[in-house]
Amino acid sequence: MLGNFTYCNPTKLYFGKDAVENLRTELKNYGKNILLVYGGGSVKKNGIYDRVMTILKECGKEVTEDAGVMPNPTTHKLYEGIARARACQADLILAVGGGSVCDYAKAVSVSVHCDEDPWEKYFLRFEEPTCAIVPVACVLTMVGTGSEMNGGSVITNPEQKLKIGHVFGTEVFPKFSVLDPTYTFTLPHYQMVSGIYDIFNHICEQYFSGTDDNTSDYLSEGLMRSLIHSSRIANLDPMNYEARSNIMWTATWALNTLVAMGKDTDWEVHMLGQAVGAHTNATHGMTLAAVSMAYYRHIMPYGLAKFRRFAVNVWGVDPAGKSEEQIADEGLAAMEAWMKELGLVMNLTELGVREDMLDGLVKSTLVMETGYKVLTPEEIRAIFKESL
Ligand code: NZQ
Ligand code: ZN
Repeated sequence: MLGNFTYCNPTKLYFGKDAVENLRTELKNYGKNILLVYGGGSVKKNGIYDRVMTILKECGKEVTEDAGVMPNPTTHKLYEGIARARACQADLILAVGGGSVCDYAKAVSVSVHCDEDPWEKYFLRFEEPTCAIVPVACVLTMVGTGSEMNGGSVITNPEQKLKIGHVFGTEVFPKFSVLDPTYTFTLPHYQMVSGIYDIFNHICEQYFSGTDDNTSDYLSEGLMRSLIHSSRIANLDPMNYEARSNIMWTATWALNTLVAMGKDTDWEVHMLGQAVGAHTNATHGMTLAAVSMAYYRHIMPYGLAKFRRFAVNVWGVDPAGKSEEQIADEGLAAMEAWMKELGLVMNLTELGVREDMLDGLVKSTLVMETGYKVLTPEEIRAIFKESL
């Protein structure tokens, strides 16, 4: 049965080739001071920085740059961004980049006018903002996280070896996001497929929980089928606009809160992956890929009916004459074969994890309570060990 919920997604999207031109209209709604946030330089190489900068200048904006947001943005960088946003009295934070840049922009936005330590308030105590929030907008260049249309913000504290996400409310969602699929053409293959798996896993995290008949699960199955299809095309032909645009749109719907409405969700793969990220700084989607097969095989008996349904409805497994377990197993085997076909990292060793790091990884893993199995520390260790 669908639980009660309120649904609102306030982010306005501009999708398609040259969608960035819509900045001209949107910028009229904000003051003069823009904090332009971007990453390690890809936007300078591929021309996106020049295009955005030209528009900002032509719109008469005063631009302060905040460059160098790293993948898995850190608390150190966050404090730097807060100082910069305060100094320029930012009226709008414009994130030009992937999930890291967008997440970081949100973390800055809720901290500029906050007197407390943002790491402790938002990421350890999970409190909501009680101060004014600087609006955020996003020009997306990397597809996967859904950060362009959600309130998620994931920050890493390297000293504490913790990587934690806070899902903020709608007041922190980007006010608008620009999604031009051609902006993703310059992504290295490693990042493209990592993003594809991130999308897939976001859907899995919301699908593998609950036993009720739920519209969201049907939507999720459709999104997964579309993604599998488009990913196979993009893997062989990365410049295929149709496939890349479908992947970009699927990513947004995979994590813009829709498919979680009225149902339980899991998110344990993300907790395992984030622990790996905190200890290795590895690419987000690859941390998820490396632990997924061990995790899903471990929880399958506790959610057998849903794994059977996944096999048949998503992977087209023929159920005739097979036991429930056999069908479910074949679904996971099909998923594993697809992951290998894309070239995902399928083990933790490749990401720099060694056996002597397992105790630390277990300590850094948050345990979620609404999946098919609440993991014990021993189970978490066993899943990491099997993923080595
Ligand atoms: O830094 P630059 O030079 O820009 O290079 C980036 C970065 O190295 C590069 N890149 C981005 N767009 C490019 C490009 N290279 C060439 N051409 C382009 N068009 O790609 C690399 C990865 O970028 P990043 O932003 O780190 O990737 P992603 O979008 O996967 O974001 C990952 C972060 O988002 C968090 C992750 O934990 C991680 O910290 N997540 C955020 C979520 C949310 N907000 O809801 C949910 C996710 O589950 C995830 O946890
Ligand atoms: Zn993710």
